[in-house]
Amino acid sequence: MSNTLTMPAQVIPELIFPAAHFPGKECVSIPPIRRDRLEGKVAIITGGAGGIGEATVRLFAAQGAKVIIADVDDDLGNSLANSLSTQVTYVHCDVSSEKEIETLINWAVSEYGKLDILFNNAGILGDQSKHKSILDFDAGEFDRVMAVNVRGTALGMKHASRAMIGAGGGCIISTASVAGVMGGMGPHSYAASKHAIVGLTKNAACELGRYGIRVNCISPFGVATRMLVNAWREDGDGCGGGVTEEEVEKMEELVRCLGNLKGETLRAKDIAEAALFLASDESRYISGHNLVVDGGVTTARNCVGL
Ligand SMILES: NC(=O)c1ccc[n+]([C@@H]2O[C@H](COP(=O)([O-])OP(=O)(O)OC[C@H]3O[C@@H](n4cnc5c(N)ncnc54)[C@H](O)[C@@H]3O)[C@@H](O)[C@H]2O)c1
Repeated sequence: MSNTLTMPAQVIPELIFPAAHFPGKECVSIPPIRRDRLEGKVAIITGGAGGIGEATVRLFAAQGAKVIIADVDDDLGNSLANSLSTQVTYVHCDVSSEKEIETLINWAVSEYGKLDILFNNAGILGDQSKHKSILDFDAGEFDRVMAVNVRGTALGMKHASRAMIGAGGGCIISTASVAGVMGGMGPHSYAASKHAIVGLTKNAACELGRYGIRVNCISPFGVATRMLVNAWREDGDGCGGGVTEEEVEKMEELVRCLGNLKGETLRAKDIAEAALFLASDESRYISGHNLVVDGGVTTARNCVGL
């Protein structure tokens, strides 16, 4: 009997990963950069006028999707849509209003014949400056944050899934946060709202799987968007107002210092790439998942001098 181990053809690495480099082997081929990962898909991106939403609008459009930006900032939303192709449109929508969400989704279906992807990304941080301590908990502020972050997400799930069920499936992604993974990452109301989004994602995935609808969320660490930069201002309320390049750089430096993965800066584009993966067929068997994009910050705490 021969003692030479031969690998069956079906597990020879270069047959499985023909484009990869294996030591001692020629690199077989490099796959071209794809521009069609969302070809023919119709996507709504809430909070798409700025920050993470804007980066996702640009990436989804570049990957062939018809994109509807849904936001309350009409100036930013319209100017972004006008700067991109005719495949991108802007629709005013306050996600905390059921009527506006329903109108938005009905409009998308009547305009494009279907809805494939909903990215529930609109969110607010709430007023950090006044209500930091739980001893000063403000019920009105809590309701305001929950109305946008949680009610808006649940309403999006409701009306998107109604549109998707008849069409044989779809994909719903929501933006949660590291503040929905561990404590100490944001104000109390915000943390509660982001934990709720993770819970809603798991529950909705459980129910909607039978219709071929995948439901996932993304939990970013700090990205120097208007929301985060404004929050760190003395009078910050996590929304409104433009930000300067200098403020962005300072915020990025702060996040780098707090981060676990050194030498990298988390940017809105990184979250958009995570959304693209979850929206595309590459993730066709992933549902109920919280894709944490934090360089390990919520999973790694060096207590033993590693
Ligand atoms: N920036 C971060 O560090 C970070 C980290 C984790 C999670 N997030 C989440 O990412 C999402 C996007 O935030 P961002 O950082 O890009 O902030 P951003 O302020 O740049 O963008 C948020 C967008 O949502 C819109 N918006 C606010 N309220 C709305 C409403 N009621 N209806 C529709 N649109 C509304 C705003 O006009 C804005 O365009 C939010 O859900 C946020 O909680 C951000």
